[in-house]
Amino acid sequence: MLPLFTKRLLHWNKKENQREMPWKGEKDPYRIWLSEIILQQTRVEQGWNYYLKFIAAFPSVAHLAGASETKVFKLWEGLGYYSRCKNLIAAARIIDKEFGGRFPNQYEEILSLPGIGPYTAAAIASFAYNLPYAVVDGNVQRVLARYAGITIAVDSAPGRTAVNNLAVEWLDKKRPGEYNQAIMDFGALVCKPKSPACSECMLKNSCRAYQLKRVAELPVRQKKIVKKSRWLYYFLVWHQNQVYIRKRTGEDIWQNLHEFFLVEEARPLSKPNWHNHPSVSTWFNRSGAAVTAVSKLYTRQLTHQTLHGQFIEVTTETTPSLGAEFKAIPLSELDRYPFPKFIITYLQEKNVNLSQH
Ligand code: ADE
Repeated sequence: MLPLFTKRLLHWNKKENQREMPWKGEKDPYRIWLSEIILQQTRVEQGWNYYLKFIAAFPSVAHLAGASETKVFKLWEGLGYYSRCKNLIAAARIIDKEFGGRFPNQYEEILSLPGIGPYTAAAIASFAYNLPYAVVDGNVQRVLARYAGITIAVDSAPGRTAVNNLAVEWLDKKRPGEYNQAIMDFGALVCKPKSPACSECMLKNSCRAYQLKRVAELPVRQKKIVKKSRWLYYFLVWHQNQVYIRKRTGEDIWQNLHEFFLVEEARPLSKPNWHNHPSVSTWFNRSGAAVTAVSKLYTRQLTHQTLHGQFIEVTTETTPSLGAEFKAIPLSELDRYPFPKFIITYLQEKNVNLSQH
Protein backbone atom coordinates (compact mmCIF):
# COMPACT_ATOMS: atom_id res chain seq x y z
CA MET A 1 0.00 0.00 0.00
CA LEU A 2 1.33 3.40 -0.96
CA PRO A 3 1.30 6.15 1.69
CA LEU A 4 -1.48 8.73 1.27
CA PHE A 5 0.97 11.48 0.34
CA THR A 6 2.46 9.34 -2.43
CA LYS A 7 -0.94 8.34 -3.81
CA ARG A 8 -2.16 11.92 -3.91
CA LEU A 9 1.05 13.27 -5.36
CA LEU A 10 1.02 10.71 -8.18
CA HIS A 11 -2.66 11.36 -8.76
CA TRP A 12 -1.98 15.10 -9.05
CA ASN A 13 0.88 14.28 -11.39
CA LYS A 14 -1.38 12.27 -13.70
CA LYS A 15 -4.37 14.58 -13.64
CA GLU A 16 -2.98 18.08 -13.37
CA ASN A 17 0.72 18.25 -14.01
CA GLN A 18 1.14 19.72 -17.47
CA ARG A 19 4.72 20.83 -17.04
CA GLU A 20 6.92 20.09 -20.01
CA MET A 21 10.68 20.39 -20.06
CA PRO A 22 13.20 19.08 -22.58
CA TRP A 23 14.80 16.65 -20.10
CA LYS A 24 11.53 15.30 -18.70
CA GLY A 25 11.17 11.56 -19.28
CA GLU A 26 14.71 11.48 -20.65
CA LYS A 27 16.43 8.09 -20.18
CA ASP A 28 19.95 8.93 -21.37
CA PRO A 29 21.99 9.28 -18.14
CA TYR A 30 24.35 11.74 -19.82
CA ARG A 31 21.54 14.12 -20.72
CA ILE A 32 19.92 13.72 -17.31
CA TRP A 33 23.23 14.47 -15.62
CA LEU A 34 23.72 17.59 -17.74
CA SER A 35 20.23 18.88 -16.95
CA GLU A 36 20.61 18.22 -13.23
CA ILE A 37 23.97 20.00 -13.02
CA ILE A 38 22.49 23.01 -14.83
CA LEU A 39 19.43 22.97 -12.54
CA GLN A 40 21.48 22.74 -9.33
CA GLN A 41 21.67 26.51 -9.00
CA THR A 42 19.69 27.78 -11.95
CA ARG A 43 15.99 28.28 -12.59
CA VAL A 44 14.33 26.04 -15.18
CA GLU A 45 13.55 28.91 -17.57
CA GLN A 46 17.14 30.12 -17.52
CA GLY A 47 18.67 26.64 -17.78
CA TRP A 48 16.44 25.44 -20.64
CA ASN A 49 18.41 26.95 -23.54
CA TYR A 50 21.78 26.18 -22.01
CA TYR A 51 20.74 22.52 -21.83
CA LEU A 52 19.74 22.53 -25.51
CA LYS A 53 22.97 24.28 -26.51
CA PHE A 54 25.03 21.77 -24.54
CA ILE A 55 23.46 18.62 -25.95
CA ALA A 56 23.78 20.07 -29.46
CA ALA A 57 27.47 20.96 -28.98
CA PHE A 58 28.35 17.84 -26.98
CA PRO A 59 25.94 15.00 -27.81
CA SER A 60 27.74 12.42 -25.64
CA VAL A 61 30.12 12.09 -22.70
CA ALA A 62 32.95 11.42 -25.16
CA HIS A 63 32.30 14.73 -26.96
CA LEU A 64 32.36 16.62 -23.67
CA ALA A 65 35.45 14.78 -22.41
CA GLY A 66 37.34 15.63 -25.59
CA ALA A 67 36.30 19.28 -25.81
CA SER A 68 38.59 22.24 -25.06
CA GLU A 69 37.91 23.73 -21.65
CA THR A 70 37.59 27.25 -23.00
CA LYS A 71 34.89 26.09 -25.42
CA VAL A 72 32.91 24.45 -22.61
CA PHE A 73 33.25 27.51 -20.37
CA LYS A 74 32.22 29.73 -23.27
CA LEU A 75 28.99 27.74 -23.56
CA TRP A 76 28.46 27.94 -19.79
CA GLU A 77 29.06 31.72 -19.83
CA GLY A 78 26.35 33.62 -17.95
CA LEU A 79 25.02 30.64 -15.98
CA GLY A 80 27.07 31.35 -12.83
CA TYR A 81 28.56 28.97 -10.28
CA TYR A 82 31.37 28.09 -12.61
CA SER A 83 32.77 25.29 -10.44
CA ARG A 84 29.82 23.29 -11.86
CA CYS A 85 31.38 23.66 -15.28
CA LYS A 86 34.83 22.68 -14.07
CA ASN A 87 33.40 19.58 -12.37
CA LEU A 88 31.36 18.73 -15.46
CA ILE A 89 34.52 18.54 -17.56
CA ALA A 90 36.39 16.58 -14.85
CA ALA A 91 33.54 14.07 -14.46
CA ALA A 92 33.22 13.57 -18.23
CA ARG A 93 36.93 12.75 -18.40
CA ILE A 94 36.65 10.27 -15.52
CA ILE A 95 33.69 8.55 -17.19
CA ASP A 96 35.63 8.42 -20.43
CA LYS A 97 38.80 6.98 -18.87
CA GLU A 98 37.69 4.98 -15.85
CA PHE A 99 34.24 3.81 -16.88
CA GLY A 100 35.11 3.12 -20.50
CA GLY A 101 32.85 5.94 -21.69
CA ARG A 102 29.70 4.41 -20.16
CA PHE A 103 27.85 6.44 -17.58
CA PRO A 104 27.98 4.54 -14.25
CA ASN A 105 24.71 2.84 -13.31
CA GLN A 106 25.19 2.39 -9.55
CA TYR A 107 24.26 5.10 -7.04
CA GLU A 108 27.61 4.99 -5.20
CA GLU A 109 29.59 5.26 -8.42
CA ILE A 110 27.46 8.14 -9.66
CA LEU A 111 27.90 9.88 -6.27
CA SER A 112 31.68 9.49 -6.52
CA LEU A 113 31.89 11.80 -9.56
CA PRO A 114 32.96 15.43 -9.02
CA GLY A 115 30.07 17.87 -8.74
CA ILE A 116 27.53 15.16 -7.92
CA GLY A 117 26.03 15.18 -4.42
CA PRO A 118 23.24 13.02 -2.99
CA TYR A 119 20.48 15.02 -4.72
CA THR A 120 21.94 14.80 -8.21
CA ALA A 121 22.97 11.15 -7.73
CA ALA A 122 19.40 10.27 -6.66
CA ALA A 123 17.95 12.15 -9.64
CA ILE A 124 20.21 10.38 -12.15
CA ALA A 125 19.83 6.94 -10.50
CA SER A 126 16.03 7.19 -10.42
CA PHE A 127 15.43 8.85 -13.82
CA ALA A 128 17.91 6.80 -15.84
CA TYR A 129 17.90 3.44 -14.04
CA ASN A 130 14.71 3.46 -11.97
CA LEU A 131 16.73 2.93 -8.78
CA PRO A 132 14.82 3.72 -5.56
CA TYR A 133 16.56 6.87 -4.33
CA ALA A 134 14.60 9.92 -3.16
CA VAL A 135 15.68 13.43 -4.16
CA VAL A 136 15.85 15.95 -1.31
CA ASP A 137 16.60 19.60 -2.02
CA GLY A 138 15.14 22.87 -0.78
CA ASN A 139 11.94 22.32 -2.78
CA VAL A 140 11.37 18.81 -1.48
CA GLN A 141 12.14 20.00 2.06
CA ARG A 142 9.45 22.64 1.69
CA VAL A 143 6.81 20.23 0.36
CA LEU A 144 7.46 17.60 3.03
CA ALA A 145 7.84 20.07 5.93
CA ARG A 146 4.49 21.63 5.05
CA TYR A 147 2.61 18.43 4.34
CA ALA A 148 3.89 16.72 7.52
CA GLY A 149 3.85 19.94 9.60
CA ILE A 150 7.54 19.76 10.54
CA THR A 151 8.16 22.85 12.67
CA ILE A 152 11.80 22.25 13.59
CA ALA A 153 14.34 23.91 11.28
CA VAL A 154 14.90 21.83 8.13
CA ASP A 155 18.56 22.91 8.12
CA SER A 156 19.17 21.63 11.68
CA ALA A 157 20.41 18.06 12.20
CA PRO A 158 17.09 16.70 13.59
CA GLY A 159 15.08 18.62 10.97
CA ARG A 160 17.18 17.24 8.16
CA THR A 161 16.80 13.71 9.54
CA ALA A 162 13.02 14.09 9.88
CA VAL A 163 12.69 15.28 6.27
CA ASN A 164 15.09 12.67 4.87
CA ASN A 165 13.25 9.87 6.68
CA LEU A 166 9.92 11.00 5.23
CA ALA A 167 11.45 11.35 1.78
CA VAL A 168 12.59 7.72 1.89
CA GLU A 169 9.36 6.46 3.47
CA TRP A 170 7.07 8.16 0.96
CA LEU A 171 9.11 7.45 -2.18
CA ASP A 172 7.30 5.16 -4.61
CA LYS A 173 9.95 2.44 -4.81
CA LYS A 174 8.40 0.95 -7.93
CA ARG A 175 8.34 4.25 -9.81
CA PRO A 176 11.06 6.37 -8.22
CA GLY A 177 11.76 8.40 -11.37
CA GLU A 178 8.13 9.36 -11.89
CA TYR A 179 7.72 10.13 -8.17
CA ASN A 180 10.88 12.28 -7.98
CA GLN A 181 9.92 14.32 -11.04
CA ALA A 182 6.39 14.70 -9.64
CA ILE A 183 7.54 16.07 -6.27
CA MET A 184 9.90 18.55 -8.01
CA ASP A 185 7.11 19.74 -10.28
CA PHE A 186 4.63 19.91 -7.41
CA GLY A 187 7.07 22.12 -5.45
CA ALA A 188 7.53 24.38 -8.47
CA LEU A 189 3.88 24.64 -9.58
CA VAL A 190 1.68 24.21 -6.50
CA CYS A 191 3.58 24.16 -3.20
CA LYS A 192 5.60 27.24 -4.17
CA PRO A 193 7.80 29.17 -1.72
CA LYS A 194 5.70 32.34 -2.02
CA SER A 195 1.95 32.35 -2.68
CA PRO A 196 1.45 28.58 -2.84
CA ALA A 197 -1.73 27.49 -4.67
CA CYS A 198 -3.34 25.91 -1.60
CA SER A 199 -6.94 26.54 -2.61
CA GLU A 200 -6.55 24.38 -5.73
CA CYS A 201 -4.21 21.85 -4.14
CA MET A 202 -5.29 18.22 -4.41
CA LEU A 203 -3.32 17.40 -1.25
CA LYS A 204 -4.72 20.11 1.00
CA ASN A 205 -7.15 17.88 2.93
CA SER A 206 -4.29 15.85 4.32
CA CYS A 207 -1.75 18.70 4.56
CA ARG A 208 -0.81 19.43 8.17
CA ALA A 209 0.42 22.98 7.51
CA TYR A 210 -2.83 23.79 5.66
CA GLN A 211 -4.97 22.41 8.49
CA LEU A 212 -2.99 24.43 11.03
CA LYS A 213 -2.92 27.55 8.77
CA ARG A 214 0.86 27.58 8.99
CA VAL A 215 1.77 27.15 5.32
CA ALA A 216 3.41 30.58 5.10
CA GLU A 217 5.62 29.86 8.13
CA LEU A 218 6.97 26.57 6.85
CA PRO A 219 9.62 25.40 6.28
CA VAL A 220 11.54 26.99 9.17
CA ARG A 221 15.23 27.67 8.53
CA GLN A 222 17.72 28.65 11.19
CA LYS A 223 20.44 30.13 8.98
CA LYS A 224 19.90 33.46 7.38
CA ILE A 225 21.97 34.25 4.33
CA VAL A 226 24.43 37.04 5.10
CA LYS A 227 25.28 39.01 2.00
CA LYS A 228 28.70 40.47 1.55
CA SER A 229 29.29 43.52 -0.69
CA ARG A 230 32.25 43.86 -3.01
CA TRP A 231 33.35 46.79 -5.16
CA LEU A 232 35.06 45.86 -8.39
CA TYR A 233 36.94 48.42 -10.46
CA TYR A 234 37.84 46.98 -13.82
CA PHE A 235 40.44 48.63 -16.04
CA LEU A 236 40.21 48.15 -19.75
CA VAL A 237 43.84 48.88 -20.45
CA TRP A 238 44.28 49.67 -24.15
CA HIS A 239 47.59 49.79 -25.88
CA GLN A 240 47.95 49.82 -29.67
CA ASN A 241 44.33 48.77 -30.13
CA GLN A 242 44.67 45.76 -27.87
CA VAL A 243 43.13 45.28 -24.45
CA TYR A 244 44.60 43.26 -21.58
CA ILE A 245 42.76 40.28 -20.13
CA ARG A 246 43.62 37.38 -17.85
CA LYS A 247 42.04 34.15 -16.68
CA ARG A 248 40.83 34.10 -13.08
CA THR A 249 42.30 31.41 -10.87
CA GLY A 250 41.96 30.67 -7.16
CA GLU A 251 39.01 29.65 -5.04
CA ASP A 252 36.89 32.75 -5.52
CA ILE A 253 33.87 33.23 -7.80
CA TRP A 254 34.33 33.11 -11.58
CA GLN A 255 37.20 30.64 -11.60
CA ASN A 256 38.41 30.01 -15.17
CA LEU A 257 36.54 32.97 -16.59
CA HIS A 258 38.42 35.95 -17.95
CA GLU A 259 38.54 39.54 -16.77
CA PHE A 260 40.30 42.87 -17.16
CA PHE A 261 42.78 44.35 -14.67
CA LEU A 262 40.88 44.42 -11.39
CA VAL A 263 41.08 46.50 -8.24
CA GLU A 264 38.80 45.13 -5.58
CA GLU A 265 37.66 47.07 -2.53
CA ALA A 266 35.41 46.28 0.42
CA ARG A 267 33.95 49.80 0.25
CA PRO A 268 33.26 52.19 -2.59
CA LEU A 269 36.10 54.56 -3.46
CA SER A 270 35.11 58.18 -3.51
CA LYS A 271 36.67 60.12 -6.39
CA PRO A 272 39.57 57.73 -6.90
CA ASN A 273 42.87 59.11 -8.13
CA TRP A 274 44.21 56.15 -9.96
CA HIS A 275 47.75 57.42 -10.31
CA ASN A 276 47.98 57.33 -6.49
CA HIS A 277 46.21 54.04 -5.90
CA PRO A 278 48.72 51.43 -4.59
CA SER A 279 47.48 48.63 -6.91
CA VAL A 280 47.51 50.83 -9.97
CA SER A 281 50.07 53.61 -9.64
CA THR A 282 53.18 51.71 -10.78
CA TRP A 283 51.99 50.57 -14.19
CA PHE A 284 49.71 53.56 -14.57
CA ASN A 285 52.48 56.17 -14.25
CA ARG A 286 55.22 54.19 -15.98
CA SER A 287 53.17 53.49 -19.06
CA GLY A 288 51.87 57.02 -19.41
CA ALA A 289 48.23 55.99 -18.90
CA ALA A 290 45.33 58.35 -19.41
CA VAL A 291 41.73 57.67 -18.42
CA THR A 292 39.49 57.96 -21.49
CA ALA A 293 36.12 56.79 -20.12
CA VAL A 294 34.48 55.80 -16.83
CA SER A 295 31.29 53.75 -16.92
CA LYS A 296 28.24 54.10 -14.72
CA LEU A 297 28.03 51.96 -11.60
CA TYR A 298 26.89 48.37 -12.24
CA THR A 299 25.33 46.13 -9.60
CA ARG A 300 24.76 42.40 -9.67
CA GLN A 301 23.15 40.20 -7.08
CA LEU A 302 24.56 36.74 -6.42
CA THR A 303 23.17 34.38 -3.78
CA HIS A 304 25.75 35.24 -1.14
CA GLN A 305 27.13 38.53 -2.33
CA THR A 306 26.26 41.85 -3.89
CA LEU A 307 28.69 43.07 -6.51
CA HIS A 308 29.13 46.71 -7.46
CA GLY A 309 31.56 47.91 -9.99
CA GLN A 310 32.74 50.32 -12.57
CA PHE A 311 34.73 50.03 -15.75
CA ILE A 312 37.55 52.45 -16.39
CA GLU A 313 39.03 52.69 -19.86
CA VAL A 314 42.60 53.80 -20.11
CA THR A 315 45.02 54.16 -22.99
CA THR A 316 48.73 53.83 -22.41
CA GLU A 317 51.69 55.30 -24.31
CA THR A 318 54.00 52.35 -23.68
CA THR A 319 53.43 48.65 -22.95
CA PRO A 320 51.95 48.44 -19.44
CA SER A 321 53.46 45.85 -17.08
CA LEU A 322 50.30 44.43 -15.55
CA GLY A 323 51.78 41.02 -14.73
CA ALA A 324 52.71 37.87 -16.60
CA GLU A 325 49.18 36.47 -16.47
CA PHE A 326 47.86 39.24 -18.71
CA LYS A 327 47.72 39.02 -22.46
CA ALA A 328 46.82 41.69 -24.97
CA ILE A 329 44.09 40.89 -27.47
CA PRO A 330 42.33 42.91 -30.16
CA LEU A 331 38.67 43.78 -29.62
CA SER A 332 37.63 41.36 -32.37
CA GLU A 333 38.91 38.40 -30.33
CA LEU A 334 37.12 39.25 -27.09
CA ASP A 335 34.24 36.92 -27.92
CA ARG A 336 36.51 33.86 -27.89
CA TYR A 337 36.89 34.09 -24.13
CA PRO A 338 34.30 33.40 -21.45
CA PHE A 339 33.58 36.38 -19.16
CA PRO A 340 31.36 36.76 -16.10
CA LYS A 341 27.89 38.16 -16.73
CA PHE A 342 28.90 41.27 -14.78
CA ILE A 343 31.42 42.10 -17.52
CA ILE A 344 29.24 40.87 -20.40
CA THR A 345 26.48 43.26 -19.37
CA TYR A 346 28.88 46.17 -19.53
CA LEU A 347 30.34 45.08 -22.88
CA GLN A 348 26.88 44.66 -24.34
CA GLU A 349 25.85 48.11 -23.25
CA LYS A 350 29.05 49.40 -24.76
CA ASN A 351 27.96 47.58 -27.94
CA VAL A 352 30.86 45.24 -28.19
CA ASN A 353 29.57 42.45 -30.31
CA LEU A 354 29.96 39.16 -28.47
CA SER A 355 28.87 36.44 -30.85
CA GLN A 356 27.20 34.22 -28.27
CA HIS A 357 24.81 36.89 -27.13
N1 ADE B 1 15.34 20.87 -10.51
C1 ADE B 1 16.28 19.94 -10.41
N2 ADE B 1 16.02 18.90 -11.20
C2 ADE B 1 14.88 19.17 -11.86
C3 ADE B 1 14.11 18.51 -12.82
N3 ADE B 1 14.47 17.31 -13.27
N4 ADE B 1 13.00 19.09 -13.24
C4 ADE B 1 12.65 20.30 -12.75
N5 ADE B 1 13.33 20.98 -11.85
C5 ADE B 1 14.45 20.44 -11.41
